[in-house]
Amino acid sequence: MTDRRSTWCAVALSRKVGAKPHRVLLGGQPFVLFRSGDGLHCLTDRCPHRFAPLSLGRVIDGAIECPYHGWRFDGGGHCRSMPGLLEQTPNIAVPAHAVREQNGLIYISPGRRRGEPYAGVLSGPGVVSRVVENRVRSTLLDVAENILDATHTHFTHGGLLRGLSSRRWKVRVSVTGGDGWVEARYEGEPRQEGLISRLLEGERSISVGRFIAPGIAELEFWGRDRINLSTTFHLRQEDDDHVRGFGVLAGPLQGGFGYIKALLFRPLFTIALRQDQRILNAARDNKPPGALPVLNRLDVLRSGIEAILRGERPPVADAPFEITMEL
Ligand code: FES
Ligand SMILES: [Fe+2]
Repeated sequence: MTDRRSTWCAVALSRKVGAKPHRVLLGGQPFVLFRSGDGLHCLTDRCPHRFAPLSLGRVIDGAIECPYHGWRFDGGGHCRSMPGLLEQTPNIAVPAHAVREQNGLIYISPGRRRGEPYAGVLSGPGVVSRVVENRVRSTLLDVAENILDATHTHFTHGGLLRGLSSRRWKVRVSVTGGDGWVEARYEGEPRQEGLISRLLEGERSISVGRFIAPGIAELEFWGRDRINLSTTFHLRQEDDDHVRGFGVLAGPLQGGFGYIKALLFRPLFTIALRQDQRILNAARDNKPPGALPVLNRLDVLRSGIEAILRGERPPVADAPFEITMEL
C-alpha cells in the first residue's frame, strides 16, 4: 500500500459512549459524540446560541438538547426546536462531522475527508486485543517518536522491555515510506531480555515500527512466520499541550493462550506507558520556548513523521535507506 493518507482519528472507546453525550478534544476543537435512534453522531461541541457545551446536555427524542436554553439539535446538526418560540424554528445548525465505529473505537474526520479509519495490523477474528488510554503533556510528534524509538528502551524501560545488562546487538534498520506513512524494519536482533519480551514474545526475527497519518504509531514483533505481538497507538493532539492516545495491544488467539498473555500484558504495558509519560512530561516542562532538538542518524523516523504531520510526502518515500546500529 503506497498511499496511506487518512484523516480519520480515533477519539473514543465505543463502550464509553452510551446514552449520555461524550465530549472529546481534537486539535484544540471540542466535539460531542452521541447516539440516537438513527445511529452515532458527531457535532461541534458548542451551541451557536451562547456557546454552551452541548455535551453537558442530554439526548432526547433523537436530538441533543443544550443545557442552557434547551435548543435541540439532530444528528445532522440542525436545530429542531427552541423552547418558548411560537414561530417556526429558524434555520440554524451546528457543524456535523463524519463519524465511524470500528473494532471498539470511534473515529471522526472533521473537515476534508480522506482514506479509511485504521484498525491496526492485527485485528479481527483470531486476535486478542486490549486497550489502554493515556494522556501526556507533549506533542504528537514527540509521543509518536517516543513509541517508535528503539534507542530509549535501554534507559527508560531497563528491565521491562530490555534486559538489565548493557549487552547490545548489531541490528540492520531499513527505513521506507510513502504518502502518509513511514516505517523502520529492524533485523538481526534476538528476542529482547526484558520482562515483557520474555513473557509474551516467542522467538523474534523482525520488528517494525511505523507511523501512519493522521496519528498512528505502531510496533509489530515477528516470530518465525507471523506477528506475535503488535501495539497500535491512536494518538491525537488534544490542545497545544496535551496528547491523548489509545494503545491497542494485540496478539494471535493461540487457542486461548492469547487471553492469558493479554491479561499479563496489560499491567506491564501500563508500567511502560507510565515510564514514558514521566520522561515526556519532564522533557516538555524542561524545554525552553522555541528550542530545537538535536537530530542525529539514529533518529530514523522523526523527519518522516514531521513531514506527514505537515501534510507532505516524507522524504524517505523517494529515498529509502539502511543503517546498522547497536541496540
Ligand atoms: S446556549 Fe444553547 S440554547 Fe442557549
Ligand atoms: Fe517507551
